[in-house]
Amino acid sequence: MSEPETDAEGTDEAVSSPTPGSNIAGASGPESGPLIEEPIIQSKDISVFYGDEQALQEITMDIPEKQVTALIGPSGCGKSTFLRCVNRMNDLITSARVEGELYFGGKNVYDDDVDPVALRRKIGMVFQQPNPFPKSIRDNVAYGLDIQEFDGDVDARVEEALKGAALWDEVKDQLDESGLELSGGQQQRLCIARAIAPDPEVVLMDEPASALDPVATSQIEDLIADISEEYTVIIVTHNMQQAARISDKTGVFLTGGELVEFDDTQKIFENPDHQRVEDYITGKFG
Ligand SMILES: Nc1ncnc2c1ncn2[C@@H]1O[C@H](COP(=O)(O)OP(=O)(O)OP(=O)(O)O)[C@@H](O)[C@H]1O
Ligand SMILES: [Mg+2]
Repeated sequence: MSEPETDAEGTDEAVSSPTPGSNIAGASGPESGPLIEEPIIQSKDISVFYGDEQALQEITMDIPEKQVTALIGPSGCGKSTFLRCVNRMNDLITSARVEGELYFGGKNVYDDDVDPVALRRKIGMVFQQPNPFPKSIRDNVAYGLDIQEFDGDVDARVEEALKGAALWDEVKDQLDESGLELSGGQQQRLCIARAIAPDPEVVLMDEPASALDPVATSQIEDLIADISEEYTVIIVTHNMQQAARISDKTGVFLTGGELVEFDDTQKIFENPDHQRVEDYITGKFG
C-alpha cells in the first residue's frame, strides 16, 4: 500500500467550495493530500476494535468519486467492518470502537458535530440479504424521503429511483403491492432504489449479489456500472471475477484486518505488488 503524499490539497481549501458531504460538515480537512485526484472519502489510520479484539489495523485509503471501489479479501478480514466505518454504522454496535479519521468531502465523519443520521442520508447502504420493509413498493422507495421530510414530488422521485435501479418497467403497474412479493433479485434492486431515492453521494454495498442467481447477479452488476456514473460505489464482494469486472479500484484486505494493497483494479489483478495478494487472487488461499 502506498502512503499518501503531503500536498496542499485536501486541507481546508477543499471544503470551502460546495463539496460532497459539506452539509454534514464544519470545516477541517485531512493533514495529507489525496492519493487519488478527487477522493470523496479518505480513510486515515482507521482501526476498529470489538471489545479487546482488533478487527481493522490502521486503514489508510482514498476512495475516488463516482467510481466503483471493490473491497475483497477472505472471510473475517474486516471488509464489512470497514464499510460500516464509512457511514458510522459501527456506532450501532455497542462493543465497537473506532480510532482514526475518515473524511467525507473533507470532513471527518467522527467529529462531534456530525449527525450520523444526516451522514447516512448522504451515504446509503445495501446489504447482502435483500431487506425490503413489509410495505408497498412505493413506500419502500419513499422511506428515506419521508424521514428527511422531502417536500418535492414523491411519486416522481420514486419513479426516478426505480428507473435508476432498473426496476421500473417490472413494477410500474404494481407500486401498491408489497415489496416482499418480489423475487430476490427484484427485492435487491428495490433496496438499491430505496438507497438512491434520497439522492445520496455514496452507496455502500456489502456483497449485494451473493444471495442471487447468475441472471439477477448480472443485472445488479450492470446496475452498479450505471449508478457509478452518478454515485460513488464501494462494494464488498467475495467474487473475484465480479470485482475485476465492475470496479475501477480494488482494496485487498487480508486476515488480521490489514489493507495489504489498494490500487487500480487492473493492476491488482494483473500485477499486484504483494505476493500475498497474488496468492489470494490466484486462489492459493482464502
Ligand atoms: N458485531 C461484532 N462483534 C464482535 N466481533 C465482530 C463483530 N462484527 C465483526 N466482528 C469480528 O471482526 C472481524 C471482521 O469481521 P467482518 O465482518 O468485518 O469481516 P468480513 O471481511 O466482512 O467477513 P465476511 O467476508 O465473512 O463477511 C471478525 O473477526 C469478526 O468476528
Ligand atoms: Mg462481511
